[in-house]
Amino acid sequence: MKQVGIIGTGRYLPEHVVSNDDLSRLVDTSDEWIRTRTGISQRRISTGMTTSGMACEAGTAALTNAGLEPDDIDLIICATITPDYFMPSCACLVQERLGAKNAAAFDLAAACTGMIYGMVTAEQFIKSGMYENVLVIGAETLSKVLDWKDRSTCVLFGDGAGAVVMSAAKKGINLLAANLESDGSKYRLLTCPAVTLDNPFLLEQECICYDENGMSNAAEPAGTQKIVMNGQEVFKYAVRAIVDNINTLIKKTGISKDDIAYIIPHQANYRIIDQASRSAGIPIDKFFINLDRYGNTSAASIGIALDELAESGRPRRGDKVICVGFGGGMTSGAVLLEWN
Ligand code: ACO
Repeated sequence: MKQVGIIGTGRYLPEHVVSNDDLSRLVDTSDEWIRTRTGISQRRISTGMTTSGMACEAGTAALTNAGLEPDDIDLIICATITPDYFMPSCACLVQERLGAKNAAAFDLAAACTGMIYGMVTAEQFIKSGMYENVLVIGAETLSKVLDWKDRSTCVLFGDGAGAVVMSAAKKGINLLAANLESDGSKYRLLTCPAVTLDNPFLLEQECICYDENGMSNAAEPAGTQKIVMNGQEVFKYAVRAIVDNINTLIKKTGISKDDIAYIIPHQANYRIIDQASRSAGIPIDKFFINLDRYGNTSAASIGIALDELAESGRPRRGDKVICVGFGGGMTSGAVLLEWN
């Protein structure tokens, strides 16, 4: 089997910074509440740039970092829950803007676990021998699916994009092992409805938004295309998902917790990461955290953090790094990387 690695990373964050104080002028909240409950101080919000535009910037940065030209890319995978269009895919828009004319391109929806699902999908295409260089991008403009009157969600998220170039080349950051999980029975915990069924033959719109007891969930009116979340249940799921995915990789590979130099968790909430660190028995200072600056950027968060960790120069040759994600679906997953 071919060894697959990450040979370039990149990120893009919109310039516009929105502080907690800025949000307290929109909804009944405070800097103190947001920082103590989530660890978030500010986030970047798009003032006009689209998901594909940000994806393109992050993808270009990753290609430059990898020393590749757009022509070298065989496949573009965009992980996003906030594409510009249902059709065409964000990945096709990126292909057009980059001029990556030799690439196949498609989108992947695994919510905040999108980057992990994307990396594992790329790994499989490379291992099978079908493709050599794959550009994986996680990009989101979550600001367009937030209810800016709902203080329980609008304070949590931000916009941005992160990207990696994966290749069969024997340089870069090796991908040693992976784990993917889904639990559709928990889909109600975190939803963002798509377009409602509407045609001349409509009798009754099936309600997709039932709660666990089969009751219609009035908090999620069909067709509003806004994020609705059961915060406390998501919190519990997230802590479990981080711990379980790390333990699964440890079991699969036989490494010990001490062998792990850094963990890049999906950047949702500092308290989730802190609790996971205690439950897993792994010191918090091994967890890379930038959510204070960017909030939760969903599928973009792990790519952005990986690029920042690489840029910091902190990881040394041979260091093992786990990226672990969780999100709507519910989905979760992790990859074990080794720095080269
Ligand atoms: N400012 C002030 N008060 C608020 C705010 C706010 N922004 N949001 C909620 N509150 C209030 C609530 O109305 C409630 O008031 P009440 O007691 O008068 O009813 C009170 O604060 C407590 O609300 P809780 O929901 O119990 O607060 P909790 O401590 O659970 O924190 C939070 C809420 C931060 C959302 C937490 O549940 C959480 O982080 N959950 C995980 C959310 C998450 O990370 N989602 C995304 C992950 S998956 C993905 O990335 C797609």
